[in-house]
Amino acid sequence: MTRNIIRNRLSCELPPDVPYGVLFYPCVGRDTYYPIRCLIEYVSDFHFVEIMDINMLPNFECRKDIEYDPNRKTIHFDLVKNVVSFPPYDDNIDEEKLTQLRLKFIKPEGYTGKRGKIYKHELMLVDNRIVNVYCHVQDGLAVFTSLENISIFFLRRDSLGEGGSGQGWFQEEIFKLILDKLLDGGIIVTDGSSGYFTKPDVPWKGFWEKKADDKGNNLPKDFTYYGRNFKCIGIFGPGSGPTLIWQVKRIQKDLITPSANEIPKFKTNLTYFSKSKM
Ligand SMILES: C[S@@+](CC[C@H](N)C(=O)[O-])C[C@H]1O[C@@H](n2cnc3c(N)ncnc32)[C@H](O)[C@@H]1O
Repeated sequence: MTRNIIRNRLSCELPPDVPYGVLFYPCVGRDTYYPIRCLIEYVSDFHFVEIMDINMLPNFECRKDIEYDPNRKTIHFDLVKNVVSFPPYDDNIDEEKLTQLRLKFIKPEGYTGKRGKIYKHELMLVDNRIVNVYCHVQDGLAVFTSLENISIFFLRRDSLGEGGSGQGWFQEEIFKLILDKLLDGGIIVTDGSSGYFTKPDVPWKGFWEKKADDKGNNLPKDFTYYGRNFKCIGIFGPGSGPTLIWQVKRIQKDLITPSANEIPKFKTNLTYFSKSKM
């Protein structure tokens, strides 16, 4: 089996059956460099969510309209040759969907009922492929309800205190919602930080057990849950403990969610704002 250890590497080789599509990362802070740099090959749309209105993105070497920040990592010309940025626009969280969650006793921890903001950027890669990056300033779970299908779910270093969301993304009810949206063959990249709400002996406890080392030894065992097989296929560098890469495949293939080609695009109504000079 291929083992991915991507610390110090510029890209991640995932199995060929990983569906191309949406990467969703709630409670992102500024941790966007590695997900973009290493996973962009598999992603059409990045959805990063952060409750604070901060610049979540790394520097892009091709952007002349934004001041270079020496404290941030830089995505170079070898990957992205142009960035088009749009003015922020209001999001439109569907209250009905949140009500359905509340009926299951799931509460979006940071949602205040106010509209959040979305900063959209279009990255043009060296091979001319366009990748959309949406930076949502909003509660993570509220934004999650607005997405149909996810190819990669990413979460690390989230916590109860110290600015963490306290959302408990891996408590059973929320975990099932994630799995419902995760396309067949999709990936969960996580250090399991959020597992603190969960009963200790759940099948997915390998997410946070912290036994693997950074050479990929002692990876947690495969397991089955909710009609899916989970296989730990590698390590995505550090988090609170190792950040592990899990591939999730449905056991009954007739229950497959739509293929990546059928994924509805995230809808926007935008006007052109700025274009970086090359
Ligand atoms: C401990 S930091 C981790 C950041 C990032 N995941 C990392 O690994 O560097 C948690 C982040 O989640 C954000 N946050 C807290 N509550 C949130 C919520 N309900 N929805 C989205 N983001 C939230 C905080 O502002 C903070 O930036």
